[in-house]
Amino acid sequence: MRVGVIGGGIVGLAIGAELLRRGADVTVYDPAPDGTDGAWHVAAGMLAPGGESVFEFPQLERLLEASNQLWPEFAAALGDVGYDDAGTLGVALTADDVAEMAREWKHQKLSPLTGSQLRDLSPALSPRIRAGAYSPTERQVDPRRVVNALRGVLDGRFVQAEVGAVAALPEDRIVVAAGCGTAGLTGLPIRPVKGQVLRLRGEPGLLRHVIDGAADGRHVYLVPRADGEVVVGATQEERTDRHPTAGGVHDLLRAALDLVPGLAEHELTEVTVGHRPGTPDNAPIIGHFRDNVYVAAGHHRNGVLLTPITARLVADLVLTGTADPIIDDFTPGRFGCA
Ligand code: GLY
Repeated sequence: MRVGVIGGGIVGLAIGAELLRRGADVTVYDPAPDGTDGAWHVAAGMLAPGGESVFEFPQLERLLEASNQLWPEFAAALGDVGYDDAGTLGVALTADDVAEMAREWKHQKLSPLTGSQLRDLSPALSPRIRAGAYSPTERQVDPRRVVNALRGVLDGRFVQAEVGAVAALPEDRIVVAAGCGTAGLTGLPIRPVKGQVLRLRGEPGLLRHVIDGAADGRHVYLVPRADGEVVVGATQEERTDRHPTAGGVHDLLRAALDLVPGLAEHELTEVTVGHRPGTPDNAPIIGHFRDNVYVAAGHHRNGVLLTPITARLVADLVLTGTADPIIDDFTPGRFGCA
């Protein structure tokens, strides 16, 4: 079967690679197949089904957890993509921060830790941190390395093109996985949600765990790589522009340094801006759209985490016509546009 995938971001590539593995003849359409325009280039790569979940949407939480379970095997098949299972330390600075974060930790059934217990695990944490929790199942991967590996799997299968109309493509089945661009191709309600992300660099080893915290009401996550890079994210703004702002960078740096003062000595190497594809309920759209067209988009804050399960569900659907019922809560039809 010939399948065209529109969108060479992390989700589109993973779908293409999974279809190829199962014997489909895959073509990936993207205006810049070697480019760095996608949300994956900005994303830190937290695999955080608890920390990034929405309490009010248990079906989404189930999907996030199911995809998290697929990640070890998915990463292993791609080689060294920075998959790291040291886990995540949730931390809170002030009493108000503790009250807010504790809601999340309780929901995840994590045991609370005191400031000194946290510093035993991660000595670089500020002595001002009051409380936290350790989550061994919230891990990280490097999305840039994942995309490089997937591009290698799909080498020779790219067409450099901006697709204007899905119907113009010659393949038997078409998967639209074009992130925010999916709205223009399908009419589905997907909006850009701006995120500013920083990259710092210093001596490796300052941090071992992902840090997910609140400092004086400012939310921040710190994702340390083995080579000394620390990704600091992220703002969440209902804006379409691509400008880094003084306020966004200030808030991220202030919260990061409040939680880990030693980061002050790091070099600030990158300020990036991306757009998460958000939907009206901020859950992804995965499923049959109409005729021979399928959609996998709108993953909002969870594009990297949801990549393996999205690839599996879409490949099932495209090749066999059915998929695990976990997909049923995420159909394009729930917005009345299919
Ligand atoms: N998943 C992290 C973010 O969207 O900022």
